[in-house]
Amino acid sequence: MTTHWKRKDLTGLAELSAEEIRHLLSTATAFKEVGTRQIKKVPALRGKTLVNFFVEPSTRTRVSFELAAHRLSADVVNMTASSSSLTKGETLLDTAKNLRALLADIIILRHSSAGAAQFLAERMDACIINAGDGAHEHPTQALLDTFTICEAKKLTGANLKGLHVAILGDILFSRVARSNIHALTKLGAKVTLCGPPTLVPKELESLGVHVTHNLDALLPEVDVINLLRIQHERQRKEYFPSLGEYTSIFGLTKQRAEKLRPDCLIMHPGPINRGVEIDSDIADSGRSVILDQVTNGLAVRMAVLYLCSGARGN
Ligand code: CP
Repeated sequence: MTTHWKRKDLTGLAELSAEEIRHLLSTATAFKEVGTRQIKKVPALRGKTLVNFFVEPSTRTRVSFELAAHRLSADVVNMTASSSSLTKGETLLDTAKNLRALLADIIILRHSSAGAAQFLAERMDACIINAGDGAHEHPTQALLDTFTICEAKKLTGANLKGLHVAILGDILFSRVARSNIHALTKLGAKVTLCGPPTLVPKELESLGVHVTHNLDALLPEVDVINLLRIQHERQRKEYFPSLGEYTSIFGLTKQRAEKLRPDCLIMHPGPINRGVEIDSDIADSGRSVILDQVTNGLAVRMAVLYLCSGARGN
């Protein structure tokens, strides 16, 4: 199989083929090896300029894109909305055009509006990488989640046939869930969504997944459980009576975790709300790969920067 990466942008996983996703993951495996060397730097993006433009807050994604760019020898500038001229009424496109006028080659964009990265990608010759757009997609998060599953379950060739993954929580407002659904189903996994009916409507089955509201019956069935945070910032009204009620029915408590298979991976994209969607001890237990996900984000983002920058150059 030979995949020639042709995309200068990564705005979502919906449009990627399984072959393209596998190519990204295998490139990330090569970059993970770079991280084990004494000198963790390669010259692949020497002379390129990357702007990390985060209109919404971020810890993991922003820092790992910055570290990934440094490891590839790119020059990096960090920008937030509050310190930019967006606050003076400048449009997103004008801001991006000005960054390009300063010879930015790659713009990493996190934005509260779905489609913001795609909007720029269609109008700019710089690489545009989506670091999360509203409730739409967070492609590098799903890639690092999938990479972590393949690594922990020792799945060669990113073939997820026979694997059952549960995604639990606030699916309706989750860009992480959407990107994970695209990646996991394209690679052959069975995906079941679980949570309150208000946050996990049955209509989501049109995405090729299963939907259940019975967490206790689902727990013994799955190889991986990926927990999502309740996204208060995206909800216009209450979707369940209280956080306490949510935890009592859908939280991964110690008692519930006992129903999981011993080798079931426990995942969370972060930031975690300890004591709400996950018990603190479970988040820190040996079955949790939450911090491995963060570490793998670096290799995955190096792969994305390397491939998209190469396609733009070509
Ligand atoms: N998972 C994730 O996107 O985390 P940050 O918001 O901290 O980047």
